[in-house]
Amino acid sequence: MRFDLLVDPRADGAYFADTLSVARAELLLHAPTCEPAVIEHPMFTRLRVDAPREALPTLARLSFVQGIFAVDGEHLTVESAEPAHRLPAALVYGAKYRGKTHEILTLLALNVARATCTVPVETPLKVLDPMAGRGTTLLWAARLGWSATGIERQTGAVADFQRHVKKQCKLHRIKHKETRGTVGRKGRGGAGAFARYRFEDQAIRLITGDARATQPLLQGERFPLIVSDLPYGIQHKRDDGWRDPTATLRACAPDWAARLAPGGSMVLSFNAFLPKREVLVRLFTEAGLQLHPFRAPHRMSESILRDLAVFTKPA
Ligand SMILES: C[S@@+](CC[C@H](N)C(=O)[O-])C[C@H]1O[C@@H](n2cnc3c(N)ncnc32)[C@H](O)[C@@H]1O
Repeated sequence: MRFDLLVDPRADGAYFADTLSVARAELLLHAPTCEPAVIEHPMFTRLRVDAPREALPTLARLSFVQGIFAVDGEHLTVESAEPAHRLPAALVYGAKYRGKTHEILTLLALNVARATCTVPVETPLKVLDPMAGRGTTLLWAARLGWSATGIERQTGAVADFQRHVKKQCKLHRIKHKETRGTVGRKGRGGAGAFARYRFEDQAIRLITGDARATQPLLQGERFPLIVSDLPYGIQHKRDDGWRDPTATLRACAPDWAARLAPGGSMVLSFNAFLPKREVLVRLFTEAGLQLHPFRAPHRMSESILRDLAVFTKPA
């Protein structure tokens, strides 16, 4: 059957001029034979695909899809397929802060991780974000019905995450259980402090800590999925806090590879100007992971060309 996938205009905020090429990459990963054609329209740009009706729940989950229409000649009929998210959108979109990863890019990374992971599906699926900021990955995971753990070195992050989740739970009357505590003994800079939220059978938690040494914080736990938006290295601006993240990533690679379950998938978004893709690939393949061919480069500004790198761990 023929369907039109309406491209969410919010995706332009994540991918700018490259929205359609990123959307095609995500689509072809999930439906390799659908032969997408672009239907340009000032307000309703669509990707037209040939796909069986059974593919609709998968297509509805894609990060750029705002709605699906069945195509019959000149006529479009709205399809009722929807992504069936568990919790309100405000949980992901409600927090605004400097350095937040775009929500649509975060969903893309989670979708790509799931599609490339060969670990038998557990419920709930578990994802680790070792550089989690204030938790966009964790919050999306909660909406997808997954469990998630984040690690972030900034000491204020756990408190901000906590404030946001509590506020949304109150506003939307979301049933939850909050736990606050410390993993092991509190380390320097509050390391180990965490906030955890349980919603029915899934839980998300953010822990203060260093992504270069996650083992003591995660106590041997392994994850089928690792998803992270890495710090964006920007050259020639070394005194305003932006730095080359390569040395940090070199220290992280063996640690993160050990945290990935066999058959698991790791999706990293990064500024391809620094580190260069081949440098990032070398760091993680030397740690024993395999490179997956998926790419989604998109220009964000003069100094940021964001892309995704996908690594899998042999089963
Ligand atoms: C691009 S931001 C991620 C933002 C996050 N996805 C969000 O939406 O809130 C990268 C994060 O990595 C964190 N980071 C950098 N080095 C780290 C390290 N060694 N350990 C833990 N976190 C680190 C930074 O503090 C920053 O919050």
